[in-house]
Amino acid sequence: MPVIVVVGGQWGDEGKGRVVDLLAQKAHLVARYSAANNAGHTVVNELGEFKLHLVPAGIFYPDKVCLIGNGVVIDPAVLLGEIEDLESRGVSVRGRLFLSDRAQVLMPWHPLIDQADEELRGKGAIGTTGRGVGPAFTDKVSRAGVRIADLLDKESLLQQLSFLVPYKNAVLEKLYGVKPLALDRVHAEYTDFGSRLAPFVTDTAELVEEAMARGDTVLLEGAQGALLDLDAGTYEYVTSSVPSSLAGGAAIGMGIGPTKIDFVLGVYKAYNTRVGNGPMPTELLDETGDLLREGGPRPEYGATTGRPRRCGWFDAVAARYTARINGVTAIALTRLDVLDQLPTLKICTAYRLDGGMTDSLPASGAALARAKPVYEELPGWQKDTSGVRRFQDLPENARAYVRRIEETMGAPAHLLSVGPEREQAIPIKPIL
Ligand code: IMP
Repeated sequence: MPVIVVVGGQWGDEGKGRVVDLLAQKAHLVARYSAANNAGHTVVNELGEFKLHLVPAGIFYPDKVCLIGNGVVIDPAVLLGEIEDLESRGVSVRGRLFLSDRAQVLMPWHPLIDQADEELRGKGAIGTTGRGVGPAFTDKVSRAGVRIADLLDKESLLQQLSFLVPYKNAVLEKLYGVKPLALDRVHAEYTDFGSRLAPFVTDTAELVEEAMARGDTVLLEGAQGALLDLDAGTYEYVTSSVPSSLAGGAAIGMGIGPTKIDFVLGVYKAYNTRVGNGPMPTELLDETGDLLREGGPRPEYGATTGRPRRCGWFDAVAARYTARINGVTAIALTRLDVLDQLPTLKICTAYRLDGGMTDSLPASGAALARAKPVYEELPGWQKDTSGVRRFQDLPENARAYVRRIEETMGAPAHLLSVGPEREQAIPIKPIL
């Protein structure tokens, strides 16, 4: 039975949660392996609409085990809030939701530093989610982080905080002019978090190992998208996850060997979106962009911050690049129905840059900002696809659009989605 990694191939919000929710039906274990509550998955099912920031999307199936791996940064207040919300709406998580004792903890200074840092950057602000994720990963790497295991040991937590709180207070006060935090209050609050989270804490890598040994199907769910990756993305307008949310990060973020991964499903929207700042060559600042944002059953606003998403045509240059660096086995193409009304569609197959042409994604953000998309035009279908369930029943032009995306990316489409409901999906080839 396979280990499948589900990754985003664009700037996040590709619909990974929706795809994981669908695949989870046939999986035994679903896990998050990177990022933090900057990620937001919207899942719509018979219980209503849920926005999950930390809990894996598989939680809605009562027989699935869900893990939050060591690569994730956990804001205890957010996780406890999600657990409470799920339980109060009839989704029981006890005994099947576990978090890694090695995962990092988001501390109260992280959002303060994130927001103050963005202000300091002024016009060059990253446009972060403001949740403190960048500073939390920075602290992880600079060995000034607190891990979940530390929350369970009151005495050693006090020792850690006795160094960290004055250290972070100096940064807050002297660099940013922000009010300091009180050591005793932080200690009391995070000890309390520790005792409330304790029933969920374990060595999640061992659970994955045992599941694989049993031959269970394991779904590893990435966050954000490859173009937001710290190494591969449009630096410095990226997120800070270490390990990365790329497929390669799944092994590290779960504590399993890379040879265990059997299948990488790259999730791509049928067009492009981005929240936050940074270059986006195919962005549309016209009424077509507005139509992409507002035209679908679920308008394009960030699940975490509610910010309007920047919308544009499908960028096949970027998509081919992210398929390659993720080692994508197959793609899931989401929100095809959003294109239903358009008379003509465009796919960007190259960039015009500094007097030449390229079909590679430039490493330099300044160069990418100068890049002008070269488009291929395809006829639209102008028919409602939201009720289609088989590939052969799609309008011919919709099939041609999907086939062209496959060709430009060099990866086969195994799944399409044509609406937010679980059944609004078109399987092309089996994934599980
Ligand atoms: P941070 O992760 O909050 O530091 O934000 C860095 C960049 O990543 C910003 O452009 C955010 O808008 C973007 N970002 C972070 N998480 C997500 C996500 O889940 N979906 C889309 N964009 C995201």
